[in-house]
Amino acid sequence: MNINGKISFLDLVTPHQGLEEELVAVFRRALTTAGFVGGPMVEDFEHEFAEFCEVQHCVGVGSGTDALRFALIAAGVKPGDTVVTVPNTFIATTEAISQAGARPDFVDIDERTYTMDPEKLRSYLETECKRDVQTDRVVNKRTGSPVTAIIPVHLYGQMADMDPILDLATQYNLIVVEDACQAHGAEYFSKKEDRWRKAGSMGRAAAFSFYPGKNLGACGEAGAVTTDDERLARRCQMLRDHGQSRKYFHDIEGYNGRLDSIQAGLLRVKLRHLRNWNEQRRERARDYDELLADTEGAVILPHVPSWSRPVHHLYVVRVADRERLQRDLAAVGIGTGIHYPNPLHLQKSYQHLGFQKGDFPVSERTAAEVLSLPMYPQLQIDQQRHVVQRIHEFLLSKPAGPLRPFLPTSATSKEDRP
Ligand SMILES: Cc1ncc(COP(=O)(O)O)c(C=O)c1O
Repeated sequence: MNINGKISFLDLVTPHQGLEEELVAVFRRALTTAGFVGGPMVEDFEHEFAEFCEVQHCVGVGSGTDALRFALIAAGVKPGDTVVTVPNTFIATTEAISQAGARPDFVDIDERTYTMDPEKLRSYLETECKRDVQTDRVVNKRTGSPVTAIIPVHLYGQMADMDPILDLATQYNLIVVEDACQAHGAEYFSKKEDRWRKAGSMGRAAAFSFYPGKNLGACGEAGAVTTDDERLARRCQMLRDHGQSRKYFHDIEGYNGRLDSIQAGLLRVKLRHLRNWNEQRRERARDYDELLADTEGAVILPHVPSWSRPVHHLYVVRVADRERLQRDLAAVGIGTGIHYPNPLHLQKSYQHLGFQKGDFPVSERTAAEVLSLPMYPQLQIDQQRHVVQRIHEFLLSKPAGPLRPFLPTSATSKEDRP
């Protein structure tokens, strides 16, 4: 509990307190060496983060949005292409698609994991697309636009079901760019490969955000692309730096999307603690699971399939009367979040894509029910007990009536494989 009895949704002060000397030393080093852009701090961080993600290359960039945009362009997405993702994600995923000149399209999420449902992806490719015999590409029947890439989003710290997504990508010749912005260190058991794989290591490339509230957060804006593809990494290096192959030789037009050296230095200090912090998040999630176990379906808890080792960026529950619960918790000083209240296909900014209510029912339904509880490594068990006690009181105070039961989907059996 804070001094004032409040429990914040996020704590970005405590984790920095014990690290203050090391973090300030980074700033001093930048001042004494005038190393503000590029240089060894960025290169060292890139090297260490690539190792953490178990990939060959990491390219530090200005944000997660930069990382997604550069990864798509470098992987070969062209203006006029269609890139498929999910409606239940932060808008940066689709902004990056549009900024690459492509058109976002959606497939719905799985009701239990909240990530891309591979069966719906299959159905999209089989029924809404056709193969263009001349180009041997998959084309969206309605728009005539070639579908060239998929962005599975590893949401709330849990990876999407990658094996079937990658199989479909191979079958339909699609590029896969992982949106790993919420999943630093999350793991997926690939049955095909019979081993655990790290987020950011499975697609052609992946994007990470180091926005301050992420599991690995900078003290400002930062992001990274990870990949095993050397050419793609080289292209991202050029894209982030005005398309330069060497100073003032611009092979392509690029962007100003470099990773700030001070942020890279701060991230290096924090990266050393990431495994431990992720482990603490797992403990916090286990505590919530136990404390909320007796709500008998009135609160749907996060589902962790046997193929997933999540890092609990967020602890997201589902309740029928979400707005009232959020207000009740806020009234006693408990901060919560909603990720996300309005699915992307229904956003005003995407009206031109022509989607309607009812197009992606699982995303729409979960958007009305999800609530993110306070979650961070330093959260205390007595704070969690307090949050859960208030939830229990809320459930008791609710007027009698059926609580929305969990509706298992066809995905239930398939996603529980080891
Ligand atoms: C799923 C997802 N994708 C992309 C981004 C974009 O990252 P950034 O804010 O660093 O540009 C975020 C960050 O909030 C995110 O959560």
